[in-house]
Amino acid sequence: MTITLAFDVYGTLIDTHGVVVALTRVVGKPAEFLRTWREKQLEYSFRRGLMRNYENFAVCTRDALDHANAAFGAPLSQRDKDELMALYRVLPAFPDVAEGLAAARDAGLRLFAFSNGSADAVETLLANAGIRDYFAGVVSVDAVKSYKPDPAVYAHFLRQAGATGAEAWLISSNPFDVIGAISAGMRAAWVQRSPDALFDPWGIEPTLIVNSLVGLAEKIA
Ligand code: LAC
Repeated sequence: MTITLAFDVYGTLIDTHGVVVALTRVVGKPAEFLRTWREKQLEYSFRRGLMRNYENFAVCTRDALDHANAAFGAPLSQRDKDELMALYRVLPAFPDVAEGLAAARDAGLRLFAFSNGSADAVETLLANAGIRDYFAGVVSVDAVKSYKPDPAVYAHFLRQAGATGAEAWLISSNPFDVIGAISAGMRAAWVQRSPDALFDPWGIEPTLIVNSLVGLAEKIA
């Protein structure tokens, strides 16, 4: 049985901390600003999925940035916002990612990126971070016009990858994504990137918990 891995992108492979550094110049509480931005980005994607009012993830990101800016007293100019959106397209990978992906590929696992982001945005991000070549493909929710954790997007992933749920793992730092994948019949590893990160108390546990992608392959293969 060939095992297929579906890697979440933002926050799992790609580190958004660079945005905090950029925000430090203009915002008094950059970490809080980024948290509000991220929470609203996800909320807007969930709501657009539920409302069947799909616009791509960059629209959710941009609308969420406008919301965060208003919530923090509008410290950002139009130009600042354009610069942050541009930065979001070229963020780096976490330091453990290349080593973890190389080991997984060398162990014979099939690797895909699987994201709310559009295929174009994810291709650019992975190429810029120097990790595109580890992946057999990029699967975006854009093709089904819905968002994680809609079961339809995990089914779409399995169809695109030609895999069954029993042989496919989601790898994600987002608890909602892990619970979504398990509920849709996949296995899932939760990447607990910070000791403070909490898993949702729904009674649906990750198949595996890791704190880095290094060593992931040997726990799965
Ligand atoms: C993604 C978001 C959920 O990359 O992080 O799909």
